Amino acid sequence: MIQLVRGFKDILPGEIELWQYIEDVMRGICEDFGFSQIRTPILERTELFSRGIGATTDIVEKEMYTFADLKNASLSMRPEATASVVRAYIEHKMYARNPVQKLYSMGPMFRRERPQKGRYRQFYQINAEVFGLHSPKIDAELILILMTLMDKLSFSDIILNVNSLGCEKCRPAFKEKLQTYLNERIETLCPDCRRRSAINPLRVFDCKVSSCQESLEGAPTIVDLLCEECQNHFSAVLDFLDRFQIPYQLNPRLVRGLDYYTRTAFEVLASRLGAQNAVAGGGRYDGLVKALGGPAQPGVGFAIGLDRLASLLSDRAPGFVKRPNVFIAALGSRAQDRAFVWLQTLRFEGIRTEMDVEDRSLKSQMRQADKSGASYVLIVGERELEEGVAVWRDMSTKEQKTVPLEEVVTFVKKNVAGSASD
Ligand code: HAM
Repeated sequence: MIQLVRGFKDILPGEIELWQYIEDVMRGICEDFGFSQIRTPILERTELFSRGIGATTDIVEKEMYTFADLKNASLSMRPEATASVVRAYIEHKMYARNPVQKLYSMGPMFRRERPQKGRYRQFYQINAEVFGLHSPKIDAELILILMTLMDKLSFSDIILNVNSLGCEKCRPAFKEKLQTYLNERIETLCPDCRRRSAINPLRVFDCKVSSCQESLEGAPTIVDLLCEECQNHFSAVLDFLDRFQIPYQLNPRLVRGLDYYTRTAFEVLASRLGAQNAVAGGGRYDGLVKALGGPAQPGVGFAIGLDRLASLLSDRAPGFVKRPNVFIAALGSRAQDRAFVWLQTLRFEGIRTEMDVEDRSLKSQMRQADKSGASYVLIVGERELEEGVAVWRDMSTKEQKTVPLEEVVTFVKKNVAGSASD
């Protein structure tokens, strides 16, 4: 048997309905907040990610699926969507029509991380990105969107972490201070962090090695070194979160694993998820559009990990599986043929209908009807055809009544009306 590639997974019927539900809720919210959908390809030029996410991030250094295509261009499976959406914004000159663009997207991402519960090599994200707006109102609005989704999905045990990462004016001084701090403890750092501390010291905050984490206790934090504009921006974001009554925790160590962030950074954590506890993350990236060759337009956005969100809701999954309204149990070839036409007619009427076209025994068909979770069963056999009626059985009350054959479709429509669209 040929098996799945490690770290990849199938999403099967029974689970997928929950995924679709989450996607539908998010689509509805995004559209209410004025976002339009964008779909970008899974494959991009490697350079987009090395320049966009940062050449010294774990994602770019270790986790991308990269290969040379026939003409030797280096291509990569996208590890995230933001760089691609920025590329599309620039490539299609979307900014020329209107610099303010609010875009959302959904789809698979690929990172060659060590697989474990909640961490896959192909996983799914829902992204929202806003271009062209500096205002802290937009940072708060994006967090509001995220929390609205959590609310609509009835999550309670989640924590929102927020931080500010400063800007190109105030971050260099912070980096320098952090570097000095790390240099004083260089022996306690893992080999990766020794290297990182020289080129990209913020990345040390992401390191999972305990000695590195211990060394960071007492490290300078960026919030203490923000310039006045960044400070005001951050205070305004927090002020709006208060006004929206969104609880949050300030986390001065939240740096996020991608290099493009400036100012606001946030993450939604769910303790129930265990080690891989981030359900969503995002922030502002005011320099990215320009760094990728576009105009100096700011950006801010987030991504939700759909796999993790769905796993948090998995106990609710059976509730989203659509059950037939009606199961037709037809016995004998004449009844089967007549029922097969009803089956299609009822489906066109928007009534979810199933039948067994293999003409199995009544007992077997009733078992199938029961298993399918159908609300009603329509029974028709040779005897019923002779009598000119079919039997209508309500599966919850077990009540039965007869319906004249010519009236079957109108009768079913009348009796199932209302439940057809749930
Ligand atoms: P990220 O924090 O790398 O951010 O990913 C966002 C979310 O994707 C995570 O919080 C997590 O739920 C999910 N995720 C990441 N890696 C995996 C994995 N290996 N398996 C399962 N789920 C995973 C970004 O990707 C940024 N592009 C977010 C953003 C958009 N920032 C601004 N705009």
